[in-house]
Amino acid sequence: MEAVRAAGVDELEAICGGCLSCATCHVYVDKTDEYDLPPMSDDEDSLLESSFHRRENSRLSCQIVFNDALSGLHVTIAPED
Ligand code: FES
Repeated sequence: MEAVRAAGVDELEAICGGCLSCATCHVYVDKTDEYDLPPMSDDEDSLLESSFHRRENSRLSCQIVFNDALSGLHVTIAPED
């Protein structure tokens, strides 16, 4: 979430600032099998369940701590609920 914001992308609201309480940082992650993403917590899963736009590759971007191993990761911002 911070990396997207730092890139100047304003469409990612992330209203709660990464506190895992809003789901406005919802993204679709491309090629999830090619990256070692952190596992989804029950709380993240529960928040995503409230989205009408949830997909198999949905994640809350604030829960993906970026590191060098994720270099090249491509995400698409999910539509607003
Ligand atoms: S910024 Fe609110 S859940 Fe991610």
